[in-house]
Amino acid sequence: MNILVLGSGGREHALSWKLKQSPLCKNVYIAPGNAGTSTIGINVQLNVNDFDGIAAFALDHHIQMIVVGPEDPLVRGISDYFQNRADLMHIALIGPTKAGAKLEGSKDFSKQFMTRHGIPTARSKTFTKRTIEEGLNYVSSHPLPIVLKADGLAAGKGVIIAEDQETARQTLKEMLLDEKFGAASQQVVIEQFLSGIEVSVFVLTDGKHYKMLPSAKDYKRIGEGDTGLNTGGMGAVTPVPFADATFMEKVEKQIVEPTIEGLSNEKINYKGFLFIGLMNVEGNPFVIEYNVRMGDPETQVVMPAIESDLLPLLNACATGRLNEQDLVLAKGFHATVVMVSGGYPGSYEKGHVIEGLKNVEEGLVFHAGTDGDEQITTNGGRVLAITGQNTLLEKALSQAYESVAKIHWQGANFRKDIGQDLLKWMSQHQK
Ligand code: AMP
Ligand code: GLY
Repeated sequence: MNILVLGSGGREHALSWKLKQSPLCKNVYIAPGNAGTSTIGINVQLNVNDFDGIAAFALDHHIQMIVVGPEDPLVRGISDYFQNRADLMHIALIGPTKAGAKLEGSKDFSKQFMTRHGIPTARSKTFTKRTIEEGLNYVSSHPLPIVLKADGLAAGKGVIIAEDQETARQTLKEMLLDEKFGAASQQVVIEQFLSGIEVSVFVLTDGKHYKMLPSAKDYKRIGEGDTGLNTGGMGAVTPVPFADATFMEKVEKQIVEPTIEGLSNEKINYKGFLFIGLMNVEGNPFVIEYNVRMGDPETQVVMPAIESDLLPLLNACATGRLNEQDLVLAKGFHATVVMVSGGYPGSYEKGHVIEGLKNVEEGLVFHAGTDGDEQITTNGGRVLAITGQNTLLEKALSQAYESVAKIHWQGANFRKDIGQDLLKWMSQHQK
């Protein structure tokens, strides 16, 4: 099979790495890809939102499957575009239609969806410019902290957790009146703060059946001990010790099953990955958000943690026969450490030469913001994700960190405490 993967991050490197291992896979193309994906397949200079260009390329190169990495093309309707054109409908497109992608594209839609289907989530109310007075009053009577969310896609920046009411009122005004996040904040969801530990749950669905992929813990803040600014993700670990069998059973029964049933009952065509960001509140799961794609850097641990060939699973996803496939998971732990450019998530420099990649002997090196072939240079905020594997979490982490220590560029930064909270949790709970 010829496969086209859309995107350019560590997630897409990990997806193409996994797909290329399939005996059924002939060529993998990655658009636009990075220096790492060019070692797996062929990078194609196409923008992920250029549907006409993607279609022309797919026809020219006999592409049979397109795996969509990021949410943007899905929210803009790439799946509908391919379904609606007679010459493209034979191509299996892994990703939901525009209607399904609203689960990520509109927080108000996803909240209403969860309410309709009795899915546990934080209590919330949505306001617009027209109802701002009501919103300001709502804030005044709301317990602290208060969570304010821009309705639309805001590149991961649209969530503000206000510790006091003045900040919450000010933020609400900035979002609605000044359109702080552009059109994304024309509606604002005001939500109850949930206190607990977060876990990223991944599901593959054909719209009717589903498979639970490995769950992961993501480390979102730039600084050790979960301090400092939010980032795209600085590391990840799978499996997550506190998301045990009892908790995951609740996740399936209370969240995954009603979500898939809800989509099916509402005639929303959803074939692809579903990423459910959950809060574990004293052993009970609550949905923080839906994403209609895989997570980054979670994919860099989830893909290596899948033992089965991914390609037949994705094929079955496209044809509605996911129930006929088995999913076998690898044993042990996978941990990834993300190396970022100095200054990220603020401003940073690009174009620094990355040294030492050839000295890495163990672990998997997934590229994100990289460029070049012989000489590889930095080309983004998140640059590499180094994944280690072992039956013991300590050893999976030390494998990743030993490889990180061999790689250098000017200003390189990474978190030194990935997985430490989980080691501590295990020493307290698994005696
Ligand atoms: P989101 O973009 O919805 O993932 O939100 C970004 C981050 O804000 C999440 O990963 C959580 O850490 C935090 N967050 C969002 N909603 C809540 C909530 N209701 N309670 C506590 N934290 C939240
Ligand atoms: N790591 C979180 C995300 O991909 O949204």
